[in-house]
Amino acid sequence: MSILVTGGSGFIGSHTCVELLNSGYDTIILDNLCNSKSESVKRIKEITGKDVKFYECDIRDREGLDKIFAENSIEAVIHFAGLKCVPESISDPLSYYDNNIGGTVTLCQAMAAAGCKKIVFSSSATVYGSENPSPLKEDMPEGKTTNPYGTTKLYIERVLKDLYASDNEWSVCLLRYFNPIGAHKSGRIGEDPNGIPNNLVPYITQVAIGKLDHLNVNGNDYPTPDGTGVRDYIHVVDLALGHIKAVEKVLGETGCNTYNLGTGTGYSVLDVVNAFEKANNIKIKYEIAPRRPGDIATCYSDPSKAKEELGWVATRDLTEMCEDSWRWQSNNPRGYEE
Ligand code: NAD
Ligand code: UFG
Repeated sequence: MSILVTGGSGFIGSHTCVELLNSGYDTIILDNLCNSKSESVKRIKEITGKDVKFYECDIRDREGLDKIFAENSIEAVIHFAGLKCVPESISDPLSYYDNNIGGTVTLCQAMAAAGCKKIVFSSSATVYGSENPSPLKEDMPEGKTTNPYGTTKLYIERVLKDLYASDNEWSVCLLRYFNPIGAHKSGRIGEDPNGIPNNLVPYITQVAIGKLDHLNVNGNDYPTPDGTGVRDYIHVVDLALGHIKAVEKVLGETGCNTYNLGTGTGYSVLDVVNAFEKANNIKIKYEIAPRRPGDIATCYSDPSKAKEELGWVATRDLTEMCEDSWRWQSNNPRGYEE
């Protein structure tokens, strides 16, 4: 019996595959490599000393999916595959709706046809929108999304909820991630963004390594303690371990459950800059810049439901996140390109 990991060569997927293999699960990766490199699969094998089957396949390719389900005995799917760049989703919404929503529908059709009805899905805190106050709880109403990327996450959650309502044999876990950063301790796998990073920590590590001159701090007039945006940063290995708990849940019982995966603590942009400087003894040059359109002041989780129902808590602190992000960046200045 195997676990199929769509998007398994990407940032969160690769870390989750390491933890799946370490926990003894046979693991199969499906990825079209549109935002990752097959080198990460080699490194997953290197870190774990275990073999992983890899299929270069698109989740919209029904025939390709059918072949994978026919060739393997797949018990559950962890579904990471999708596009995730917020500005790109605004300029090219159709690609996001096609890839993320269309791809998920095709994946679920192939799963149903193969009799595999257990899925763990990568959702996002973005579905809470801007109206709900932090700490965010799973029973709060969904918010208004501010970009097509966020809308795809909201709609996919609905697709999966409707699917469960239509057929109670399904077992669905919707995981709402907060802000994943950090990397595996080995420094061999990590986040490898294309071009100039959109997200805070990859931007900081590229300033640290000298690729970028300085960080633009987007807004210092938010209603937060130091005026900069507050987020719930979570170590990617803690996040990966949350997926092991979620897989155990979907393997063990049917149902449709939603869980926040966060630490419950919010840090500002300047907190992260200071923590990075202190953890790694490197100065980060920054300038105050205008707010980024669509950003909210504060976003952090109440992670108690995942603790109570999955037995999962994040244990790695911001210092460890900053040390591990830097180890990955400094050991791999060009990411997976040697
Ligand atoms: P990533 O881009 O590193 O990984 C996604 C992987 O999916 C990539 O390897 C990409 O090549 C693959 N992929 C994309 N479209 C595909 C398709 N049609 N068929 C097959 N493979 C495809 O991103 P990540 O940070 O690891 O994120 C994983 C998931 O978690 C995504 O769904 C993302 O939206 C979600 N998420 C990420 C964050 C974050 O901050 N990183 C936050 C919330 C949710
Ligand atoms: N920031 C800067 N400068 C930068 C980049 C970011 O000041 O160069 C600030 C942002 O304004 C924000 C904070 O750093 O206050 C974090 O920004 P990120 O882009 O790292 O993360 P976001 O919280 O904006 O976005 C993340 C994911 C999205 C997801 C969203 C909500 O990247 O995919 O969380 O879950 F939709």
